Amino acid sequence: MKDAPIGVFDSGVGGLTVVKEIMEQLPGEAMIYFGDTARVPYGNKSEETVVRYSAQIIRFLLAEGAKTIVIACNTASAVALERVKKEFDVPVIGVVKPGAKAAAEVTRNGKIGVIGTETTIRSGIYHTFLQKTDPNVTVYGKACPLFVPLVEEGWLGEDAITEQVARRYLAELSEQEIDTLVLGCTHYPLLRSVIQKVMGEKVRLVNPAVETARELKYLLEEHHLLSERGSGAGNAKEISRPEHTFFVSDGAEKFRQLAASILPAATLRGEDIRVKTFE
Ligand code: DGL
Repeated sequence: MKDAPIGVFDSGVGGLTVVKEIMEQLPGEAMIYFGDTARVPYGNKSEETVVRYSAQIIRFLLAEGAKTIVIACNTASAVALERVKKEFDVPVIGVVKPGAKAAAEVTRNGKIGVIGTETTIRSGIYHTFLQKTDPNVTVYGKACPLFVPLVEEGWLGEDAITEQVARRYLAELSEQEIDTLVLGCTHYPLLRSVIQKVMGEKVRLVNPAVETARELKYLLEEHHLLSERGSGAGNAKEISRPEHTFFVSDGAEKFRQLAASILPAATLRGEDIRVKTFE
């Protein structure tokens, strides 16, 4: 069981930003990834629908032998995590709580911005976790729905249109003089440079994936599920590199292209991406 893969899922390609972080922090862990590319975006869907999709995918990942589940999607973490935790008896972790924890540690002036999908922002979940961690913080949320299609189109970094969209979305957060901004959607770390440019160098950007990978390690240790391949402990030379498996529900080729800009080049080879659809 220890060397079984970690099941990771997202509504599409964005969750690979979390996979990348897990690869870096837990290099001995194998992963089985599911990107629900046929049904993306989750960010404008109802809670019931996102819970149903999440439960379907977790069932599939468990049938494929996953030892634990990472919900690498802010929207699904926001609305489905607590419900699916009750349904499945393997450890399940989301990205929201770790992201909130990291932001509360980073802020100096107690003014924190959170950007995410409409569903994530409407859920108010970052706000809830942040205020539980530190009741003195003030949280400003802003949904940025156009960021996801811009990333999927590959309009990252230096693109003038992306910058214009970012300026429009982020103007009100700048006016609030936040010093910390949570990138509360898996796609947003890919827009990091433009978001930093718009917000200015003084604003610290928090990528929840970093803290999620750290907490995943504690969770695996607690459940005695850390891989014996040597997950991040000690000398990297001792780690035998694991195999990762990737599934999507549609558009394997487009997924491969986007994945190539997120993951290390050697990760995705030829026929590695398989298609799995749900009724
Ligand atoms: N993965 C989603 C999230 O992190 C963004 C894309 C979507 O709306 O499905 O919220």
